[in-house]
Formats: sequence, C-alpha cells, structure tokens
Amino acid sequence: MKSDIMTDQTSKLIHDGSEYELPVVRGSENETALDISKLRAKTGLITYDPGYANTGSCKSAITFINGEEGILHYRGYPIEQLAERSTFLETSWLLIHGELPTREELDGFTETITRHTMLHENFRGFFGALPKNAHPMPVTAATVGALSTFYQEAETEESIRQTIVRLLAKFPTIAAWAYKHSIGQPFIYPNNNLDYPSNFLNMMFSTPCEDYEVDPVVARALDMLLILHADHEQNCSTSTVRMVGSSQANLYASISAGISALWGRLHGGANQKVIEMLDAIAERGESAEDFVARAKDRDNPARLMGFGHRVYKNYDPRAKVLKQACTDVVEALGSSSQQLEIAMKLEEIALNDEFFIERRLFPNVDFYSGVIYKAIGIPVNMFTVMFAMGRMSGWIAQWLEMRRDPNFRIGRPRQVYTGPTRRDYVPVDQR
Ligand code: SDX
Repeated sequence: MKSDIMTDQTSKLIHDGSEYELPVVRGSENETALDISKLRAKTGLITYDPGYANTGSCKSAITFINGEEGILHYRGYPIEQLAERSTFLETSWLLIHGELPTREELDGFTETITRHTMLHENFRGFFGALPKNAHPMPVTAATVGALSTFYQEAETEESIRQTIVRLLAKFPTIAAWAYKHSIGQPFIYPNNNLDYPSNFLNMMFSTPCEDYEVDPVVARALDMLLILHADHEQNCSTSTVRMVGSSQANLYASISAGISALWGRLHGGANQKVIEMLDAIAERGESAEDFVARAKDRDNPARLMGFGHRVYKNYDPRAKVLKQACTDVVEALGSSSQQLEIAMKLEEIALNDEFFIERRLFPNVDFYSGVIYKAIGIPVNMFTVMFAMGRMSGWIAQWLEMRRDPNFRIGRPRQVYTGPTRRDYVPVDQR
C-alpha cells in the first residue's frame, strides 16, 4: 500500500567548524535520501548537482525503478505482468488513480475515452497552416498546447478530469492527423467501434479509398508498447511536465512542454536514432564490430543509440520485453527484420565489451522499440510520437500527484554563479 516518506535517522554535516544534523528519509522500498529542504536556512549552503543525477525532486507513489537490479513497477505491479496481461487504458487508470480499475470503472473509462476522440473541426485549418515536412513532434506539441485555446474553463477537479480524458482520447487523433498532413492524405476520423490501438492504426493507415484492416497481432503489439512507455518516474520529460505544472500552468501547457522535452535525441528521440543507426550500418555494409568500435571512440561522434541509461545500470526490463516481442511480431507478420538481426548482434558484442561493461551500459527501452514500430508500419519520424502517446498517462499521473501534494511549491532551483563580479557600466564610446 502507499505510504509517506519516513524519517528514522539523521546524517551529520560538518561545515566551517559547525556541525549540522540533516534528516534521512526512507521510501517504501527502503531507498534513503538526505532531506536538504532546510539546508540553506541552516547552513547557508546549497547543493550542486548538474543533471540532478543525485537529487530527488519529489516523493512519488507512482513508479518505482531499481536501476541496479533492472526492476520497474507501476503502482507496485511489475512491468512484465502489466505488459503481458493489461491494456494501455487499464494501465493508464492504474497510474492515474493508484489502483487497478473494477470492471465497471474500466468499461466506463473506455467508453468515455472512446467518445472524446474527435478534434474540433478548426484543427483541420491548424494542421493545414503547418509545413508538410514538419517533424510530427513539434506538430503534436503545438496541437496539444492549442487544445487549451479551445477548452478555457477554470481549473476545477471536474475540468481537470475532462482534460485528462481529452488528452488520452485525442492524442492518437492528433498523432494520426500529423502523419496524414505530412503525406498529403485526407484526415481519417476516429471510429467508435474500434479499441484504442486499432482506432489509431485505422486513422493512420486507412484512406477514403480503402479501409485498413487491423491485424490483431499489430494492435496488441502497439498496446503493449504503450504500456511499456507509460511512465518512468522523474525522467527529463516528466520532470518538465512537473516543473511547468508547478507554476500552476494548465495540464495542456504542461504536457505540451513534456512532448518537446521528449523529442531530444538523448531522451525519447533515441528510438528514431536507433533505427537510423541500424539502417546506416546496413547501407554501409559495416560490421557490428566496426560500429561498436566507433561508438567507443571518444573522438568519434557515433554513439550506440538505445544503450545506456541514467538510472538503469542493468538491463532495462522494458528492453527485455521488447526484445522478445520483436521476434514474436516479426514472426507473426511473416516478415524478416535485418534491423533486428543487426540490433541483436550489436547487443551481443556490446554486452561482452569492457567499455560497456565498465560503464554499465545496457540496452534501454529505445533499443528494440523502433524495430517493432517499423515492423507494424509506423514511419520512423513517428516513433517518438508513439513514445509520447504511451507516456501521456504517466505525465498526467505525475502532474496530478504534484498538484495534489499539499506541500507542493513552484519549482525554482538555485545555481552556483561563475560570471563576472560587480563592475560599473562604461558608455560605448569609452570602451
Ligand atoms: C530514455 O530517464 C529516463 O527514464 C528516460 C527513459 C524514459 O522512459 O523516460 O528511460 C527514456 O530517454 C532512454 C535513454 C535513450 N537515450 C539513448 O539511448 C541515447 C544514448 N544513451 C546516452 O546518450 C546516455 O546513456 C544517456 C543520455 C541515456 C544517459 O546519460 P548519462 O546518465 O548522463 O550518462 P553519460 O552520458 O555520462 O555516459 C556515461 C559514460 C560516458 O563515457 P565516459 O565519459 O565515462 O567515457 O558512458 C558513455 C558516455 O560517453 N555512454 C555511451 C553511451 N551512453 C553512455 N557510449 C556509447 N554509447 C552510448 N549509448
């Protein structure tokens, strides 16, 4: 069950000849943290931690990661079990509400989501104003931000509930319309007779001339991908959503910022870079050994994209599920995947290479996800949009948790100033 942080010990800080006792707090999985919330008031000191690698920004009861052991739980449930047995909408309810839904709750939630998938007709003109070659990530970020211009009600518990439904329901439509706009095809409207993943696939690949027939294997693979991407505690984009929301900006604006943060190649943009890396290796006819050698060379910009993680110093459990799913989906679709073969060869070499072993670099969620997206027909520049579609429920859950924390404050880190000390202005003609 959920529990608050516990304070059962202290640590001593000795600074400038004085001693200070700082509380040590403990989470429900026994991880411990030094509570420095009163540090500056007590000692005049701040902490310095570029990239926040050693800093807990909040307490959270949503997702637990043990990076050393490669463990990932959503509200206590192992990701492996949810990926195999749950659905994205059920997992979204779990992340947002904290418990798995009853049959009545799940059916009601599914019905509500299904009935809110349409976009206001004005969005046809909104998309039309954007260049066709625009990357779908800024298109989706802009469209989600623009939703707040259509829904301007004051922020209440009910309006926040409606916003949550609209974001989960409309994002697949936004994503599919961004794709249709980029290829100059007419928008396909949502179909209330289809489930969540199938409705998205239909909007992506049907045309007014021909209905796309949803393969149940593809729909299930897509739903599992959404579950695997749903949340991941305080990653870059989730921290962005929390930071923007901490100023009391609305949920649309906070999510729009999160989409933009996810786009970066070191974060959610890595899945697109992995496929581009695999395709480039194939096109060059380069051996996996030669590429790994380049990825290790500090003077070479090549990186083994999809490898390494700030938190996982073991195999990302999502990558394990995805690796198996790659084989299953490729076989079920009766296709082959040169990219999968190259990816597996790269993994085999890297996991036995001292450079990667020493730095504890393992495949992360992005290493295999692109192979599946490609196998089910998702265009490469849509891969990170798929990541955002899954992460939508986690972003929402984290934003809600932050806003509902009675002690929440606007995010405002400090700094260590390294610029010029005080100096007087000199008029331009005297410089
Ligand atoms: C996601 O935070 C999350 O939870 C994110 C995420 C989520 O679900 O939200 O899990 C999703 O963003 C996964 C990560 C996707 N990014 C990539 O796959 C890009 C490739 N990986 C890296 O660039 C890197 O590993 C990061 C950005 C993921 C982590 O960066 P860190 O923690 O700052 O680690 P680092 O860059 O300091 O690397 C440590 C060392 C360095 O070598 P040295 O300076 O010690 O010699 O490892 C090297 C790095 O050069 N290194 C790599 C490498 N990743 C790290 N070398 C080659 N190939 C790589 N992929």
